Amino acid sequence: MSKSVGPANNFESLLKETRVFKPAKEFAAKAHIKSFAQYQRMWTESVKQPEKFWAKQATQELVWFKPFTKVFQWKEPNAKWFTGGKLNVSSNCLDRWLDTDLANKAALIWEGEPATDGKPGEERVLTFKQLHREVCRFANVLKRNGIQKGDRVIIYLPMVPEAAIAMLACTRVGAVHSVIFGGFSAQSVADRIQDSGAKMVITADGGYRRGAVVPLKKNVDEALRITDAKGVSLTQTIQKVVVLRRTWNEIHIEEGRDVWWHRELEYVSSHCPAEKLDSEAPLFILYTSGSTGKPKGILHTTAGYLLGAKMTSKYVFDLRPEDVYWCTADVGWVTGHSYIVYGPLANGTTCVMYEGAPNWPEPDRFWRIIAKYGVTVLYTAPTAIRAFMKWGEEWPNKHDLSSLRVLGTVGEPINPEAWMWYHRVIGGGRCPIVDTWWQTETGSIMITPLPGATPLKPGTATLPFFGILPEVVDDAGKAVPRNTGGKLVIRKPWPSMLRGIWGDPERFKATYWSEVKGSYFTGDGCRQDKDGYFWIVGRIDDVLNVAGHRIGTAEVESALVSHPSVAEAAVVGRPDELKGQALVCFVTLKTGQAATHELKAELRNHVGKEIGPVAKPDDVRFADALPKTRSGKIMRRLLKQVASGMEIKGDTTTLEDLSVLAQLATAED
Ligand code: WTA
Repeated sequence: MSKSVGPANNFESLLKETRVFKPAKEFAAKAHIKSFAQYQRMWTESVKQPEKFWAKQATQELVWFKPFTKVFQWKEPNAKWFTGGKLNVSSNCLDRWLDTDLANKAALIWEGEPATDGKPGEERVLTFKQLHREVCRFANVLKRNGIQKGDRVIIYLPMVPEAAIAMLACTRVGAVHSVIFGGFSAQSVADRIQDSGAKMVITADGGYRRGAVVPLKKNVDEALRITDAKGVSLTQTIQKVVVLRRTWNEIHIEEGRDVWWHRELEYVSSHCPAEKLDSEAPLFILYTSGSTGKPKGILHTTAGYLLGAKMTSKYVFDLRPEDVYWCTADVGWVTGHSYIVYGPLANGTTCVMYEGAPNWPEPDRFWRIIAKYGVTVLYTAPTAIRAFMKWGEEWPNKHDLSSLRVLGTVGEPINPEAWMWYHRVIGGGRCPIVDTWWQTETGSIMITPLPGATPLKPGTATLPFFGILPEVVDDAGKAVPRNTGGKLVIRKPWPSMLRGIWGDPERFKATYWSEVKGSYFTGDGCRQDKDGYFWIVGRIDDVLNVAGHRIGTAEVESALVSHPSVAEAAVVGRPDELKGQALVCFVTLKTGQAATHELKAELRNHVGKEIGPVAKPDDVRFADALPKTRSGKIMRRLLKQVASGMEIKGDTTTLEDLSVLAQLATAED
């Protein structure tokens, strides 16, 4: 790994990338899409006659209680797809397989985190029939506890099958789930409850992480006590908390509010007909970072989202009935929604779900799981691949990985070195790599190779999926020539696109539909090469991509400023070998506060507590002042250079006090 992986450097190094990997003949012959010509033909049809294309796909792929009457209605920025139709996501993922040969096939293969004493992890297998039964039972628990169509339900669980069961049960009764990653803090949970107005939290006593117990229920208790400045509870809409027993640690049960999952099951039947929901019925809200301090509740709806998740799973991973597919993401992120739960199950695919970390108890955990279950398709993140490279080839080499046939990545640009390593060491040189570009907002994969069709080049997500029309444009919204950098936009609406930001239509319009007229603005920088391949170069707003997680700098800044010692804070990214970007914080203290090592550690923990461990700063630097323009704007460009240890270049004439910069650069410790 000689080159740095920061977006700016990637841009440079990628320009020199000339290696091309064509699909193997034997692979292409069996694939859903068998040639590049076939892909081009289908893609051209899909964007020339989108309504015809999507109507056919929606009819073919989904099971409807009532067929839709209109394919698409568009009044920017509001889209409606497949109106008039009625369906249910859980019946598309489960009920539809019950009368088929798949009924007793494994839907979920769950592998628990290994115990500290080195014993292998627990294992649970749920067939489609069993999963259906559990979902029906839990859907009845939801109803029994007052949940109705349209109610919001927070899911804050570890990576256990019950996370998928809870999600599917919500969809069965028409409740809108909002999954919160188990690594988020009590404050983050409270903020999301407040924003979504949720009625219920589904959580567990705890979750296992590298041998330790994450006290999920305790965090929920804390979240439910948080009040605003006026002493008003942020979470007053919560009526019930359902608690799954996982770690058996002692927890507090609040009579009348908290109920045990296993006890509730004793009262319900396993019969629960699926609600017949409108195509545009809200399906879930998933919070993600934006460039302001407030997380955005990205809203997805029923039919369009499901169609996107299902079609992309099928074509991008070339899924077949005999596959054992494993997506290593957490269900708390969109990748877990679309590619652990909804996409694969809607295709009748057997899906592996793993509770723990890739290096617990040893760095070969993933390879052990692949060999154990004969995993055929692996979908993971560049940040994980870079960590594996660092840990060394000996770990994967210990295991038989010959079952693998397709490899995927998502979350950030993959640097060509990591791509080549993944291809050679994990894929044995024979597996195509699908580098998939998409976002929480897009719901499903947008730019991607198709493994039997697209010639691959390391480092690029290649070409658009069916029905997707991306373009690279300048500030005026005009397409730029090939090999020129610009903003990535999507020209045409697509079924799985977000329908809004929960409770904030203005922000929805301003964030996505105002930057480039008539197009969806992705927030990513990009260029197309001579063959039209899209090379993503990273975010162009103030959102960082740390280990594949989108973190808004403004969020971290407001967390820092909420500490009583901090006067002002600015957060920027620095290229990082493993994580892609690392978080560097510049902090000025209130008068009388001492800049000590202890305070540094305290501030890191404070951010961890406010937002969650994913947002813990890598570096905190104290200064007397932050570099500002005369109009008072913090000069982030300069701070980025300071953070990466670069010499300060460019225009500093608008800077108020040059001595500030000198101090920041030496403020290392
Ligand atoms: C980045 C994750 C390059 C990008 C599914 C995007 C990527 C953001 C890729 C969305 C990729 C994701 N190549 N960059 N293959 N995949 N990104 O919402 O900046 O967590 O805008 O969704 O991740 O992150 P999100």
